[in-house]
Amino acid sequence: MIATDILFQPISIRNVEIKNRYVMAPMGNVGHADAQGAFSQSAVDYFAARARGGVGLIITGLCDVAPHIEGITPCHMPLPTLNPNAFLYSAIELTERVHAWGSKIFLQLTAGFGYSGKSTVATKPVAPSPIANRWQPEIEHRALTRSEIYQFIEGFVQSAKIAQKSGFDGVEIHAVHEGYLLDQFTLAFYNNRQDEFGGSLEARLKFPVEIVKAIKAACGDDFPVALRFSLKSFIKDHRQGAVPGEVFEEKGRDVAEGLAAAKILVAAGYDALDVDAGTYDSWYWNHPPMYFGKKGIYLEFSRQVKQAVDVPVIVAGRMDDDQLARQALLNGDCDLVGLGRPLLADPDLPNKVRLNQTAAIRPCLSCHEGCMGRFARGGRLSCAVNPACGREAAFALSPALNKKQVVVVGGGVAGMEAARVAAIRGHRVSLYEKSGALGGVVIPGGMPPFKSDDRDLLKWYQHALGETDVQITLNHEITREDICAIQPDAVIIATGSTPVIPPIKGHGSIPTYCASEVLMQTELAGPRVAIVGAGLVGAELGLWLKRLGRTVILIEASDKILGGGMPVMNADMLTDLLHYEYVEIHRETRVTEITPRGIRIVGPEGERDVNVDTVVYAVGYRSENRLWNEIKADAVESYLLGDAKRVNNIMYAIWDAFEIARNL
Ligand SMILES: Cc1cc2nc3c(=O)[nH]c(=O)nc-3n(C[C@H](O)[C@H](O)[C@H](O)COP(=O)(O)O)c2cc1C
Ligand code: SF4
Repeated sequence: MIATDILFQPISIRNVEIKNRYVMAPMGNVGHADAQGAFSQSAVDYFAARARGGVGLIITGLCDVAPHIEGITPCHMPLPTLNPNAFLYSAIELTERVHAWGSKIFLQLTAGFGYSGKSTVATKPVAPSPIANRWQPEIEHRALTRSEIYQFIEGFVQSAKIAQKSGFDGVEIHAVHEGYLLDQFTLAFYNNRQDEFGGSLEARLKFPVEIVKAIKAACGDDFPVALRFSLKSFIKDHRQGAVPGEVFEEKGRDVAEGLAAAKILVAAGYDALDVDAGTYDSWYWNHPPMYFGKKGIYLEFSRQVKQAVDVPVIVAGRMDDDQLARQALLNGDCDLVGLGRPLLADPDLPNKVRLNQTAAIRPCLSCHEGCMGRFARGGRLSCAVNPACGREAAFALSPALNKKQVVVVGGGVAGMEAARVAAIRGHRVSLYEKSGALGGVVIPGGMPPFKSDDRDLLKWYQHALGETDVQITLNHEITREDICAIQPDAVIIATGSTPVIPPIKGHGSIPTYCASEVLMQTELAGPRVAIVGAGLVGAELGLWLKRLGRTVILIEASDKILGGGMPVMNADMLTDLLHYEYVEIHRETRVTEITPRGIRIVGPEGERDVNVDTVVYAVGYRSENRLWNEIKADAVESYLLGDAKRVNNIMYAIWDAFEIARNL
């Protein structure tokens, strides 16, 4: 079987043979570089873990080739030319360890951000042409000089030579993709230069064309040079993308121009195209949230590129369904399957597919909380569902020296993670859940069709717990007396949270529910629904009910929906979908009364009545910590976790549980 599985057939890029079709998609090694521009030890361990997991080719995250031009701040990413010796020390160890597992590795090289850079990372604002910054419009970018463009090209050459010397098997140029500086040169929307780098498509492509020619001249024709390439931009305007299926005027690259560009770039010497879609102005395309509601997000683009060029085509975009990946290869939609976030969530995915252990693959949630969202807060690359991501050596689990009897109270994600990790380390663990199912608030939260990854995470926990000796007792609400009788060595309280019911006059005048009730049983909602609270739960429920044919009115007391803390690509896509699908949103508005005909609201336009037949509360959750308060002073080692400690997202439920259980 394995011999005929196309996923595990070798393939070559130029003369480099890759043992299977799985490629680790490039992901910025943010925070995993030192001040000299070298890979940190955590980065080396992180890549070695993915090589050990069976991936055929690793493409590193972006590394700036001429950091002085944009003033790239140290530690953000590796910088091969900053201190080549320091870079070599780290990179040689990196390539040695990856090669030990039979994997290949390309270094991704970038010309930086241009218009799309934040001032915390790129301190000198430049762009192809003068323009206001994507994120901070008060910052004006000046046009790059011709001399600086040629310095960048020389930086690519020097970096490629350093990569070759370090043992990298090739490089990937970053990027005619995502609206980075190099991409901005290729798009008329950002480039109105009058010199040889502006004007016709050929002129706008001159920068990436010169890069590949110069690298080939310096490193030899056989040294592979791949290109990250977004076939289509999905730009409606600055800072405004188009949602899937939307009819709009493309201000960036449309498919026709993209295919013409692909042919020119391959003719210039690129050996592989690594295809996706989007720009920083339509950012959810490059960093797809769960709201796409499907896997294989870029296959429609890679399919067209493959028909246009004769070099290998790589495609990522939620390709973690092995059946879909296999079919894409068989259909000729791509030659290699990129895995970005799925390899953050589970580094062993390729080996698990090969060994037919797909139930053991921990799914990525497309939440961006631990990866892109963490960057935005100044944190390092990691993963919400895999706390060891990016700290593989430091967080490796070790057997407990003192094996304890551990009682875990609460079978939500925090309780399950604590039980799983404690049991792996050799503790004797009993898990008690008062309801009839494990999962807690993720059960209702995972009900909308676009939340299938959340449902898969719960299935994964069931599987993972089944691989341990954890004793699970459902339908049992444990008391302080029970704990005293068991006399455990340690107690972990993860009793979750309960929905907040706001004290609104007239409550019950018409059918009124909590969001979790309607998420579990959408038939409860009548044709016209008011959802009180437009945080994540209310907004997701609103979108789902709208798709089920209800008229939905979202009422939000603050001036912004989604609470303001979500990763921007997820928040932007959900907001755009709510608008595109005509969900009515009232900001800075309060419900003052529920009447027999609907609700009375007070907002910027004053007080008025709105006819609805159902009211749904989505105003948040309150920690359920009564048991904790009863036992916290008892003479037993005890810990409080998850929503019971502080209502928060899945990531912190898992991370806190992992931290406690790996040190128990
Ligand atoms: C944390 C993170 C960092 C990324 N950094 C890069 C990068 O440095 N270069 C690049 O070409 N793409 C980058 N990407 C995009 C990924 O390569 C990939 O196209 C995207 O995540 C979709 O694929 P996936 O669903 O397999 O994650 C990044 C994605 C993530 C999640
Ligand atoms: S943080 Fe979320 S989106 Fe990022 S890899 Fe982990 S599960 Fe996936």
